[in-house]
Amino acid sequence: MIEISLQKLKLPHKTLFTGYLLVIGLGLLMAGAQIMLTHGMADGKLGLSVDDIVYSYYGNRSGSKLESMINGSMKSHAPAEVRLDIIKWVRNGSPEDKWNNHFKGVFAQHCTMCHSTIPGIPDFTSYQAVKQEAKIDEGASITSLTRVSHIHLFGIAFIFFFVGWIFSYASGFSNRLKAFLIFMPFAFLILDVASWWLTKLNPNFAWLVIIGGFGYSLASAVMILTSLYQMWFIKKPASRPASSNIH
Ligand code: HEC
Repeated sequence: MIEISLQKLKLPHKTLFTGYLLVIGLGLLMAGAQIMLTHGMADGKLGLSVDDIVYSYYGNRSGSKLESMINGSMKSHAPAEVRLDIIKWVRNGSPEDKWNNHFKGVFAQHCTMCHSTIPGIPDFTSYQAVKQEAKIDEGASITSLTRVSHIHLFGIAFIFFFVGWIFSYASGFSNRLKAFLIFMPFAFLILDVASWWLTKLNPNFAWLVIIGGFGYSLASAVMILTSLYQMWFIKKPASRPASSNIH
């Protein structure tokens, strides 16, 4: 049986594999950057922390977005007694009758000069918009989790399948170690997705999300870098004995 090995591949196969690995490697770096910028900012600070994961999947159940904004970056727009008044209303379930005969006016006085004129932020002339912000933040919804989970599982399985396939032709690894490295990203992928769901139920699972993501990044980095290295930087072994016998 002919042993295929990365350093002995013909040039067209090398370029095909290299192109794929470079693009996937870049993609993984971009994915990492995106996670830092979206989930990473969930707690308001740059960099991914356990709190970010908790906010993204479990939510900040101590209060609503409205309440945290009013005591946060919107604080300067209304005096303390007005803010307290709004928070009490929100905690009472923000009933609509109080909106009509009181809070519509309060928001008009303090908030709607921006929140009805600036595009992309909620329009507080509408009760529905205020109500939406007054809901307790429960993190990712079940529908968004099922959607993201299946896209993630299907999509990423393809990435690891081809990365693993290419790496299976690497030399210098025992079959056991190779099999382990090839299987690891799949295992961590399942762990990663499972941990989103567990974190949604219980915030203590947030650290599993980080381990899962870190695990498959590490395993694929090892496979990508080894494959690239063996294709281009290891000299082809001297020609086979069979051909050297022909003089
Ligand atoms: C000077 C303009 C301005 C005023 C006045 C203002 N806001 Fe805002 N508000 C913003 C901007 C800009 C954002 C989006 C940026 C951000 O999240 O900080 C925002 C975001 C928010 C959000 C988060 C929206 C979301 O879903 O991301 C809430 C809630 C909010 N404001 C509440 C209020 C309330 C309540 C008042 C009145 C007491 C108010 N704001 C007054 C400009 C304003």
